[in-house]
Amino acid sequence: MTAPVLEICLSESDAADALHHDARVGLSADPKWLAPKWFYDARGSELFEQITTLPEYYPTRTERELLRRSVGKIAARAAVDTLVELGSGSSEKTRLLLDALTANGSLRRFVPLDVSESALRSAMAAVVQEYPQLTVHGVVGDFTQHLELVPASRGGRRLVAFLGGTIGNLLPDERASFFTALRTALDPGELLLLGAGLVTDPAVMVPAYDDAAGVTAEFNRNVLRVLNRELDADFEVDAFDHVAVWDAAHEWIEMRLRARRAMTVRLPAVGMTVHYAEGEEMRTEVSGKFWREGLRAELADAGFADQAWWTDPQERFALLLATAV
Ligand code: SAH
Ligand code: AVI
Repeated sequence: MTAPVLEICLSESDAADALHHDARVGLSADPKWLAPKWFYDARGSELFEQITTLPEYYPTRTERELLRRSVGKIAARAAVDTLVELGSGSSEKTRLLLDALTANGSLRRFVPLDVSESALRSAMAAVVQEYPQLTVHGVVGDFTQHLELVPASRGGRRLVAFLGGTIGNLLPDERASFFTALRTALDPGELLLLGAGLVTDPAVMVPAYDDAAGVTAEFNRNVLRVLNRELDADFEVDAFDHVAVWDAAHEWIEMRLRARRAMTVRLPAVGMTVHYAEGEEMRTEVSGKFWREGLRAELADAGFADQAWWTDPQERFALLLATAV
């Protein structure tokens, strides 16, 4: 077993600068908004793991089933020496890929990349134990900024997995830039395995983001705890209600935090005082849902071809394997 390598592309001070910037921009906008990557401190990452086990949250179990069905074919097509995983979190479902790719004998290295150092460290510790034959090279980084720092293949090819539907958490223009940057970071013939939520019945989608146990509400409010800790802010966390709505025009679920009453919040670290009116809603996440043709076209525009597609019988989630051309 080789000791895992952890590369820090996003130092604590880089992350602090980015949070300062995002808070200044998002909290002075009308309507106010915050980027979803700020949910994921250690507590946020744990809350997300709890979400994945909720009865209402179908994406994780649906994608796991799709992976189970498709990993044999993926491994047969993808003789890769490196598996890169973007937004890797716990890398729990990734074990299915690691199993198939190590069984076909080609895989040498696993490169998980995540903004959440705590999630990355615990996932790496487990993978190192379970797959002693692999080199594990973690990257603490932002997949919208640090793709060019992902290590090159070692004379073979890489497969980049981007699972969970996290692609939907980028806004459309961010998504287009991301696909282009990813294509640029890859060599022709390297592969992308993308998991994406599909447009389905709002009566199924909305409860997945507004569960009866209130875990998603806590996950949503966690961003305020992060601002309180990192920016010395004084958000009264419990004075904000969790809101999840299906935005049919944009085809995304939008999570918001709604102020129960008028409030003034101080954020001394960024020199801001922010006012909330009673009932004011602040966007904290979009979770885009897709159609097959739309996703295929976006990927083709960015230079990915040869796409294989797997979906569940209810067509709620899809896995897509594409080749950089
Ligand atoms: N892939 C896992 C985890 C999904 S949760 C799954 O399918 O279950 C989303 C993950 O992406 C979290 O671990 C979060 O920390 C990470 N993440 C969110 N925004 C990110 C960004 N901009 N760059 C890198 N990681 C990010
Ligand atoms: C990580 N991402 C794909 C999740 C989603 O479904 O958009 C985050 C999440 N937000 C609320 N519940 C889960």
